[in-house]
Amino acid sequence: MKHHINGAEQFVEEKGHGAPVILLHGFPLDHRMWQSQIDALSANYRVITPDLRGMGQSDVPKSNISIDQYANDILTLMDKMGIEKAALGGFSMGGYVAFALLRKAPKRFTGLILANTRPEADGQEARKNRLNMAVSLYEKGSVVARDAMLPKLITEPSKEAHPKLVDTLSMVMESMPAEGLVHACLAMAFREDSVDLLSSISVPTLVIAGEQDPIAPPDVMKKMADQITGASYHIIPAASHLTPMEKPEAFNALLIDFLKGIKA
Ligand code: MLT
Repeated sequence: MKHHINGAEQFVEEKGHGAPVILLHGFPLDHRMWQSQIDALSANYRVITPDLRGMGQSDVPKSNISIDQYANDILTLMDKMGIEKAALGGFSMGGYVAFALLRKAPKRFTGLILANTRPEADGQEARKNRLNMAVSLYEKGSVVARDAMLPKLITEPSKEAHPKLVDTLSMVMESMPAEGLVHACLAMAFREDSVDLLSSISVPTLVIAGEQDPIAPPDVMKKMADQITGASYHIIPAASHLTPMEKPEAFNALLIDFLKGIKA
């Protein structure tokens, strides 16, 4: 359903009852990337998967937006939904938003799942690539993000074994509003560095990497996990970047085990 959040309509999928679990999607995706996790968790948890502003069915921002503003939207959404505390998961760009949330309101989160993400801000080269991507998206539409990302999201063997997954992914990426993706590129390009935040994280944390992830490689993820007190770190074998969709059984097993161990 849609909620009126900070001057914009924000779509959120909600399923199940129990302790709330909020899962934040990556770029250029929306809540649909979490379908397997929604199916696996909703028997025991209240699973909340928003579309960040400008992606999926949420309104495209009218002016420039930051990772901090995406985080503010989530905090307002929690207030509107009557959620005082929740477990928080972020995949890739969703992880960047999760860092901002931990910076702003650490007491509102009972546990943290960081999947295929990185704490460092963009360097000059990465920033330039994002600006180029933003221009191409503006000129040619969301297919630009689809074509750039698809080769990196899942491994070749998975693509061959699961053609339907490739079709679904392509369809989701093509359906994104191009202008919303432009905003997301700019927000990521100028996001705050979160390396210093890591040592202050005091909630139980699960870090999940994909063995063959070219975007957030396992060594980057391991270094991040090492800086978070008590974090548990796992590599999903034969997986690329999009572990929740490419290897849902392995991902969900880690997630369920982790959630069982945290206090609501
Ligand atoms: C994502 O999956 O959200 C993006 O790859 C993040 C990024 O480009 O930094």
